[in-house]
Amino acid sequence: MKSTNLVIALTKGRILKETLPLLAAANIEPVEDITQSRKLLFDTNLDNIKLMVVRGSDVPTYVEFGSADMGVAGKDLILEHGSDGFYEPLDLRIAKCRLMTAEPMVPSSTSDTLKVATKFTNIAKKYFAEQGQQVELIKLNGALELAPSLGLADLIVDIVETGQTLTANRMEPRDLIANVSSRVIVNKASMKIKNVIIRDILRKLNAAVNKS
Ligand code: PRP
Repeated sequence: MKSTNLVIALTKGRILKETLPLLAAANIEPVEDITQSRKLLFDTNLDNIKLMVVRGSDVPTYVEFGSADMGVAGKDLILEHGSDGFYEPLDLRIAKCRLMTAEPMVPSSTSDTLKVATKFTNIAKKYFAEQGQQVELIKLNGALELAPSLGLADLIVDIVETGQTLTANRMEPRDLIANVSSRVIVNKASMKIKNVIIRDILRKLNAAVNKS
């Protein structure tokens, strides 16, 4: 019988380095050094499993539309994307950080409508609506910590890990929006059609997570 082919989408960067040992513990190993290569699709020690490496924000999209059967993505990007299109069966408990609001140590705003810079506009919109706070959202893709000092925003919504980036830019964390870690997500159709292989991988990953 032909074995089921399966594609797993991984988030490049720091999450990738933390994901690979867990995959190895589940007996899935790329046949070349995936962290050094410019390739995007990799064979593994298992003929029927391939790994693809993409931006974290694209992992939910690939999994939702079934180009990848499974994926590993940060909870921040899953929340921003919306998780109706896939299942989220496992918390890998890696790449832990917090999604927070942050403001300058010396706040300057006097206006009623806060200006909020973030790349997480969907999360921020929902969060401030729940708080009953009217805000103007400004979409940025990076270096958010600069926005307040240049007068672009009063507040930012961003990932805080050590807090060093905030401190270096004379800002401080305020409110916690969500605790973040990397999650395994699974395409809904794949979960049905490839149930045996996916359940086997999830079981092994779960064991690896609980051992680490
Ligand atoms: C993230 C985030 C902050 C920084 C926080 O950026 O946007 O800038 O890390 O980390 P810290 O609390 O340990 O200082 P990242 O380096 O992931 O790059 P990005 O701007 O491309 O998201």
